[in-house]
Amino acid sequence: MAQSTPEEFVNQVRSSVDIVDVIGEYVQLKKRGRAYLGLCPFHSEKTPSFNVNAERQFFHCFGCNAGGDVFSFVMQMEQFTFPEALNKLADRVGLTPPVPISSEENKQHSAKATMYEACNFVARLYHYMLTSTPYGAEALRYLENRGITRKTIDEYQIGFAPDSWDFLKTQLAKRSFPQDLMVEAGLLSSNDRGKIFDKFRKRVIFPIYDSQGEVIGFGGRSIDGSDPKYLNSPETLLFNKSKTIFNLHRARPSIRKRNQAILFEGYADVIAAWQAGITNGIATLGTAFTEQQAQIIRRNTDQVILCYDGDAAGQEATSRAIEQLRKTGCTVRIAPLPQGTDPDDYIRQFGAEQFSQQVLLQAMPITSFQLKHLRSKIVIQDEADKAEYVKQALSFIVSLPNAIERDMYERQLAEEYGLSLEAVKLEAKKLFKQQKLSNQRDKDTTRRNNSINNGKSAVAKAPAHEMAERMLLYYIMRNPEIAWRVQQECNVDFQVDEHSALAAYLYAYYAEGRQPDPGAFIHYVEDEKCKQLASGLAMMQCKEDVSDKEIEDFIKQVNNYPIRAELIALRDEQKQLNLQATGSEDEERRKQLVIEAALIGMKIAQLENALKDG
Ligand code: GTP
Ligand code: MN
Repeated sequence: MAQSTPEEFVNQVRSSVDIVDVIGEYVQLKKRGRAYLGLCPFHSEKTPSFNVNAERQFFHCFGCNAGGDVFSFVMQMEQFTFPEALNKLADRVGLTPPVPISSEENKQHSAKATMYEACNFVARLYHYMLTSTPYGAEALRYLENRGITRKTIDEYQIGFAPDSWDFLKTQLAKRSFPQDLMVEAGLLSSNDRGKIFDKFRKRVIFPIYDSQGEVIGFGGRSIDGSDPKYLNSPETLLFNKSKTIFNLHRARPSIRKRNQAILFEGYADVIAAWQAGITNGIATLGTAFTEQQAQIIRRNTDQVILCYDGDAAGQEATSRAIEQLRKTGCTVRIAPLPQGTDPDDYIRQFGAEQFSQQVLLQAMPITSFQLKHLRSKIVIQDEADKAEYVKQALSFIVSLPNAIERDMYERQLAEEYGLSLEAVKLEAKKLFKQQKLSNQRDKDTTRRNNSINNGKSAVAKAPAHEMAERMLLYYIMRNPEIAWRVQQECNVDFQVDEHSALAAYLYAYYAEGRQPDPGAFIHYVEDEKCKQLASGLAMMQCKEDVSDKEIEDFIKQVNNYPIRAELIALRDEQKQLNLQATGSEDEERRKQLVIEAALIGMKIAQLENALKDG
């Protein structure tokens, strides 16, 4: 292949990747007419407003205005610089950059790339130590005892970190990985005297992959009962625990196919379930379940089964996960596990079949779980405890949106605690009224706050001249002749800075002899803000055949804006002067004010005439 210029290379990559494939790995996309639609990964939403245009290879979200081409998507999604995104996409389609991309601005890029490389290498090295050297024998026996098969060990690239302070340190040095960077990557540790040593020693190693299947960190399980039981990589440039989900890249196809994810607490549970043929299992990384994780799941499915340990901590964690998942619009059910067992134990003891039948299929709706959870927190010793519990349970029940469900739980409660249904309903009504009142108060406060600084409403009703600017950009993007015309006839800059910048891009784009093509243009634009604006405009649906007269009117709107703005200011000033004049006791001063107001009146008339003629 002939050596290509960097620009050619970018184009080559762009035309080789399909934006729908790339985005499809992060967002479940459904085909809608000519576009693909999904839940936006850049803001939280329950109904999809995120569009991907396959034909023109760009994306745009109507909810948050994120938009751009495949490079901007990867940059925004992964917080990558442009060269990083380019490299990643090039890699994906098997293209090699013509010249290595390394410049001063990309120090961080090369640090990250080296860290990826090191993590990948370390995963392979530890796996080799486990499976092919005598050092791994004890760990292999441990895994065997836990029922983990050789096939799973290979699939999950499970490894072993030998019982040594400098095994990895030496291996990394041999391959010239910079030592301080390896500490930063969490592979080596340093003590307060500056001594550097292996982070993981005598531990079974579970590599942790990002959603794209790259190793970004490790979980190390001790095999001799030493503490801590699990030692995880620290947060690094690559590894963000609150945004990472264990096993997601492997489980994703299955999660989407079944439209269901099973959320476990531990790596061991996910792996045991996987071995038992349950391939839609995922887990957090020993940290609390976060809103970001809920959003990532929601982009792949709206059905989640929570399968946490049957102990108190597991139940607390369940409550938290429910809350986060519900916010994103997921339907959540809770699989019941006997007290004191975890899914891994259960599967080992009773087998896959029974786990599916007795645990997963028995998953109950949130309400039942929450009532059970509430019940387990209150010790009922006397009538007062009972009344307190019933009250708490009821205040929960009355907040349910479904009347039939409310009725059902109210009946259950009455029966269980030997109360008359009338009494329960009466109490429920009272609680409902109280809740409504306090909700109303909350709403009022929010509304008041919103009306003070709500930027959004301004977007919805953009002033006429801004709309005109946008319409012109829309047509310019589709027709170079309109571009020439606007360039000649507009005698002022667009008022909105971004509009003005985008117009400049468009003129330059056509000046280079390029054809109208919104997709290509979006790519051409370098500035991310402008890219977003361009993708928004490209998504707008306006009639294609615009008349000369319409364009003329838009141009007039733009040209006349400064005059209009001045008119508004002058009228205001005139009004102020007149007011001051009427209020003035001093005759001399009053006369002077009237004259000033009259002079301004003349100026106003002049401008009004100019508007009429123009
Ligand atoms: P096994 O005991 O190997 O079966 O693991 P488990 O999955 O049953 O572990 P457990 O339920 O105790 O913990 C669930 C998850 O919490 C694990 O997968 C780890 O991610 C995390 N975890 C457990 N123990 C520790 C610990 O000592 N330190 C840290 N940092 N994380 C832990
Ligand atoms: Mn366990």
